[in-house]
Amino acid sequence: MNGYLKESNFMMVEEGFTTRDLLENLLVELGQVSDQQAFFVADLGDIVKKHLRFLKALPRVKPYFPVKCNGSEGVIRLLAELGAGFACTNKAEIACVQSIGVPADKIFYSSPCKQVAHIKYAASHGVQLMTFDNEVELSKVARSHPHARLLLGITADSSPSAHSSMMFGTTLKSCRHLLETAKEKAVEVVGISFHLGSRGLEPQTFAQSVAVAQLAFEIGTELGYQMHLLDIGGGFPGTEDTRTRFEEIAAVINSALDLYFPDGCGVEIVATPGRYYITSAFTFAASITAREEVPAEQPGSDEEESGSKKSLVYHLSDGIYSTFSCLLFDSPCPRPQLHKRPCPDHPSHSSSLRGPPEDAEDHIADGLELPELQVGDWLIFEDMGAYTIATSSLLGGCPQPQITYAMSRVAWKAVQFFQGKPPQTEDDRESVCAPLSCGWEMAETLCVTPVFTPASII
Ligand SMILES: Cc1ncc(COP(=O)(O)O)c(C=O)c1O
Repeated sequence: MNGYLKESNFMMVEEGFTTRDLLENLLVELGQVSDQQAFFVADLGDIVKKHLRFLKALPRVKPYFPVKCNGSEGVIRLLAELGAGFACTNKAEIACVQSIGVPADKIFYSSPCKQVAHIKYAASHGVQLMTFDNEVELSKVARSHPHARLLLGITADSSPSAHSSMMFGTTLKSCRHLLETAKEKAVEVVGISFHLGSRGLEPQTFAQSVAVAQLAFEIGTELGYQMHLLDIGGGFPGTEDTRTRFEEIAAVINSALDLYFPDGCGVEIVATPGRYYITSAFTFAASITAREEVPAEQPGSDEEESGSKKSLVYHLSDGIYSTFSCLLFDSPCPRPQLHKRPCPDHPSHSSSLRGPPEDAEDHIADGLELPELQVGDWLIFEDMGAYTIATSSLLGGCPQPQITYAMSRVAWKAVQFFQGKPPQTEDDRESVCAPLSCGWEMAETLCVTPVFTPASII
């Protein structure tokens, strides 16, 4: 039993509850509390289902959750319990996952640009696996971490238009030189890594990248490396409304892996899925703290009509520098739902959402058609799990909206299966194994054959 997650870490709810139900209850309770301005409700069971679905769709791939995507304690504890590893981008994230007891061999320091002090921190805390894609990073690691095991970050497409300035990875052409330099510096390179970004990728891009990775492995082998690890990154969709479903992407990846890294070839495959795991599990509620009215200009319309039409700007206590930072990470513009149902005959107005009034640039959303709202009214945002909660909150940094974690009894039983406590009675077994959805069917398989033993990684 891992013991990272306990029943006291979340609210146990019956199967069939929705985060919306829970949120409505909390809002009723909060009715009396005037200073509560925003909070999250997180369905941990949704993450369990995603995990089962991941294992079913990509049976050869071990997930390392990128902590920067959601560093909240409940999420880290749950994923640790499920046997996932963690991809960390700095010392704070490493400290965060180690503080709950995650062993160093389940941590991957995945940032392509690392501060020397953080590399030294990783070295002194036993974290060995990290990435590089240029000589400067290589030199930093060679000087500061004698036991590092590196993955060379590659990009499959060298055309500038294919990559934003946020993307990293060296071209196949530069691989040989970097691997030779690593040899000279006596740095151990254990494999290849790529991350294709998160902008609704075509599945074939994964296949191309796996093919390029295989060529990079060949160069490594020629130079005498014994590479045995391939990281295929993240970028899998977190919701169902995307052009390509997760399972379709997974099917393309599996075919590419079978072709270029067939089972038994001695290469372990990992991925760093962030938004896939977490987006749909979190719902956010925020109240309006201030509002401004802007008369709408409607040339040509008669006076009476233009008088009833106006634009409204609503300020929330959170903005793009806190919870809505997801907007900076390629997430779609959040669509608020109203807590109170408006009267059907209330006119809607062009509305904008802003962060706290102190920052004029803090734009959350524009052009929303909403009925007129008042200060104190609540807005509800679904699919708010990814890139909304900073690790700093765990380490006593900026105050963050409170998170209420919930999980159904059935999901908890599935988690206990991972904890090495298979359901005891026939009734227990049936409830865990009930094929409630495609993800839960996997629970049935897992109850019979433990296909996934928590990674002994690398
Ligand atoms: C290197 C790397 N891996 C994985 C991820 C996770 O991406 P996603 O949340 O789209 O799965 C990111 C996100 O920025 C990243 O930079």
